[in-house]
Amino acid sequence: MKSHRELIYIVLGVFLGFLLIVSLGSGYSLDFGYGDGRYYPPGCCQGPENFTSNGERIYFTGVSETGERIPFIGGPRWLSVHGGSCVDCHGRDREGGFTPMMCSKETPSITWQHLTEHGMSESDVKTVITEGVEPDGEELSSCMPRWQMSQEDLNDLVSYLKNP
Ligand code: HEC
Repeated sequence: MKSHRELIYIVLGVFLGFLLIVSLGSGYSLDFGYGDGRYYPPGCCQGPENFTSNGERIYFTGVSETGERIPFIGGPRWLSVHGGSCVDCHGRDREGGFTPMMCSKETPSITWQHLTEHGMSESDVKTVITEGVEPDGEELSSCMPRWQMSQEDLNDLVSYLKNP
């Protein structure tokens, strides 16, 4: 007969194996429990039904109200794989100030106050978001995705950014 201790190890091993399989099998759908198959960033603790505007929804999820994920060019690989949006790199408060995973640049603040302090107009901000080019012609780091969004989505997002 096996000793008590051996039995405990076996039970523990089976349990850990089970946990491993569950977590591998479900991948990122194990995530934050909204159950709609989309990825919501860890900072984002509200379900999609709670967004008060399309702009806010885009900021937090990268998905517009049509339910389509907004395509982008560039950005780090994890963003293409897991999805995500502005909030993942510029933060809930839009203050940035950290270097996102697999990026070499720190994220700037994108509060409206900060953006316009630096002399950007509304259309400059739109160009930065969609083309990654600053008003002075400087190309942003490829960490900042070039968002291929419709005019309506872009307008909604900019209105959201203007809200303090
Ligand atoms: C993967 C990370 C990442 C995501 C996601 C991201 N950004 Fe950025 N963003 C950056 C980085 C890094 C910079 C700075 C690049 C540089 O200075 O070269 C930047 C720069 C900017 C700037 C320029 C600010 C300035 O002072 O010139 C704006 C505006 C901006 N992002 C808006 C957005 C918006 C809006 C979204 C969502 C639709 C978004 N970003 C999503 C990483 C990201």
